[in-house]
Amino acid sequence: MSTPFANGDLCLLLDAKGRRYLIDLAEGGEFQYHAGSLKHDDIIGAAPASLLRSNTDSRLVALRPRLSDYVLKMPRGAQLIYPKDLGPMIHWGDVAPGHTVVEAGTGSGALTLALLRAVGPEGRVVTVERRDDHRQHAAKIIARFHGGLPDNLTMLEGDVCDVFDSYPGVDRLMLDLPEPWTVVEAAAGLLSAGAVVCAYVPTVPQVQRLTDTLRRCGWFIGPETFEGLHREWKVEGRSVRPETQMVGHTGFLTVATHASAQLHIEEDG
Ligand SMILES: C[S@@+](CC[C@H](N)C(=O)[O-])C[C@H]1O[C@@H](n2cnc3c(N)ncnc32)[C@H](O)[C@@H]1O
Repeated sequence: MSTPFANGDLCLLLDAKGRRYLIDLAEGGEFQYHAGSLKHDDIIGAAPASLLRSNTDSRLVALRPRLSDYVLKMPRGAQLIYPKDLGPMIHWGDVAPGHTVVEAGTGSGALTLALLRAVGPEGRVVTVERRDDHRQHAAKIIARFHGGLPDNLTMLEGDVCDVFDSYPGVDRLMLDLPEPWTVVEAAAGLLSAGAVVCAYVPTVPQVQRLTDTLRRCGWFIGPETFEGLHREWKVEGRSVRPETQMVGHTGFLTVATHASAQLHIEEDG
């Protein structure tokens, strides 16, 4: 969006050292940081990616935050999924414009935001959260990014296992909760043929139990599990090399496709 910043917009300020600050623009407001301050009124009306100067003449660039910037900066509630894993979940979960997606649990709403972007205005996201405080927190996070709750988002409070009867045409089921095997068991036979299930779990025993359930119930084709590693690089002059520190582990993704009929389970001895 190249329209100038307006009152109420989100703005990401980048200082000369690459530090990032996320602010909500308000007429008469002031951004203060270690190198001085900048009036919000100097940003309102400016084009995105404008170069601005603080009261101490320090350089600041005003950007519209990317979704990944927002997720990394948003206030923490429940443990969220980071951009490193959001991209692969959308891609391998095969979430596309126009899809109806059921998601649980809503948590902090990071995956919900990524799903809303992937399904587009013609799609729908139904997100289910059993904790009222998490649901309310996520609603604020999502509304802040979108300037209100999107019309194609349904936020439900309760157990996701109770919603499958109400949403028969679900295209995708995205899970980030401690016991996804209980959910796939409840969804087995109820999802549409070809619906893709994508679950994010942090530990190996969870992967084992989920995969075992997906295989045993006979309703899911080919569970696959993988993890993604994200290694940042330092690129400064002649020093071009991987950063010395990286996030070693976040979670595993397990993906499977719902069959049109229960598969015959072959005993292998
Ligand atoms: C790790 S958080 C999800 C974070 C979210 N994916 C994000 O990116 O912000 C897991 C959430 O699942 C919720 N939860 C656990 N079991 C659930 C269930 N059966 N139905 C609905 N929500 C559930 C928890 O209350 C918690 O808020």
